Parts: sequence; structure tokens; C-alpha cells
Amino acid sequence: MIPKSLRLGAIWAQDKNGTIALEGQIPWYIPADFKHFRESTTGCPIIMGRASWDSLPRKPLPGRANIVLSRTLTIPEEGMILANSYEQAYREASLWLQEQGVEPKNPYGVNTWITGGGKVYKDSLDDVSTVVVSLVETVLEIPDRKKVTTAPVLNPEEWEIDTRLSDVHTRTAGNELGWKIFTYRRKPPK
Ligand SMILES: NC(=O)c1ccc[n+]([C@@H]2O[C@H](COP(=O)([O-])OP(=O)(O)OC[C@H]3O[C@@H](n4cnc5c(N)ncnc54)[C@H](OP(=O)(O)O)[C@@H]3O)[C@@H](O)[C@H]2O)c1
Repeated sequence: MIPKSLRLGAIWAQDKNGTIALEGQIPWYIPADFKHFRESTTGCPIIMGRASWDSLPRKPLPGRANIVLSRTLTIPEEGMILANSYEQAYREASLWLQEQGVEPKNPYGVNTWITGGGKVYKDSLDDVSTVVVSLVETVLEIPDRKKVTTAPVLNPEEWEIDTRLSDVHTRTAGNELGWKIFTYRRKPPK
């Protein structure tokens, strides 16, 4: 059950092949994309899998409730809210938002974000109505696909691009890889 107060979105950065991580780490460094992630998610609960939490260089991510899904952890680590199911994670998100007493503000109209990783994006996709993708303009050549974590593929029958919140032009800065934001909304049922 998803509490009615939640407006759930997912946010990730991928290359043109859908790669989001290589050997447990994000394989690029684009400060402007981190800034976009921070600005979009600040003030919101973020829900992530235990592997993504482990991969964070600094944790918790400040200004957000860091809700971590795990079946193996029994005691929460410092800075996290532990949840052993999606139902519990969504309940914790709703409680946290209620306690804050202010609705988070971001252009996407999302108040709770799924922030990874591969497994959690795939398993929660049916629950979210907005997906914000930073498309990094590269194709990582990785022959051993076992080392790779990928994003879910968005079926065009179910998802449409919100052109108002998607880029026409590539964002670039200095020598950094270029990237573009695509915002997807779930199509209304036919
Ligand atoms: N490029 C990006 O935007 C981006 C964003 C975020 C993360 N990432 C990358 O994604 C990678 C991690 O992805 P991943 O697919 O390996 O793992 P993940 O989705 O981060 O975490 C998987 C773990 O979450 C827990 N979990 C999953 N479903 C659950 C459920 N229904 N109930 C309770 N616990 C549940 C389990 O933890 P336990 O094993 O403890 O039970 C599971 O092993 C990292 O390399 C990270 O850098 C990339």
C-alpha cells in the first residue's frame, strides 16, 4: 500500500546503454549533475537499497530522510532509517513528511524519491509516476556485463516525456561529460 500523501519519483543518471554503475560505483564525475540531484531531492525522503547506501562516500545525504531498504541489517546505521520492505519504507517516508509539516518544493512535483540502485529502481518502477533521468552522453565500453548495474528500460507505451522539464540541449562544463535531463511521466491508463 502506498500512502496517499506520497508523490513518488525515481531519479538516476545513466549512459546511453542504461549503465548506472560499474563494480559498485558510479563511473563518471559530473558535479553539475550531483548539484541537480541534490537540489531535486533536498527536503524529501529518499529511498535506496542497502548496496547504494554502502556505496555513498559520505552519508547520510544531508537535508533528506535517508530510508534504506535491507533484509540483512537488523540495527539501523547512523543517519539511516531502516526499512525491511517497501511498505515500511513508504510508511516511514509519509511519517517523515508529516513531521516536517512542509511540502518539499522541486520542479518535478515529487515529494519522495527512489534513489537507487539497479534492483530498487526496477522493483519500485510500478509505484512511481515520475522518472528523472540524467542521460550522460557516452557509451561505456564494458565487455564484462556482470560488472555493470543498469537502469530499468522505460516502455514508451507506459511513459511519455514531459518536454517542459526535459532538455533540448546538452549541458556541458569544461572537460566534463555532457548530459541531458529527460523527465518521464506515467501515461494515464487507457
Ligand atoms: N547512476 C545512478 O544514478 C545511481 C544511483 C544510485 C545507485 N547507483 C549504483 O547502484 C549500485 C547498487 O545497485 P544494486 O542493484 O546493486 O543494489 P541496490 O538496489 O542499491 O540495493 C539492493 C539491496 O537492497 C535491499 N533490498 C532490495 N529490495 C528489498 C526489499 N524489498 N526489502 C528489503 N530490502 C531490500 C537488499 O539489501 P540486503 O542485501 O541488505 O538485504 C538488496 O541487496 C551501486 O553501485 C550504486 O553506485 C547508481
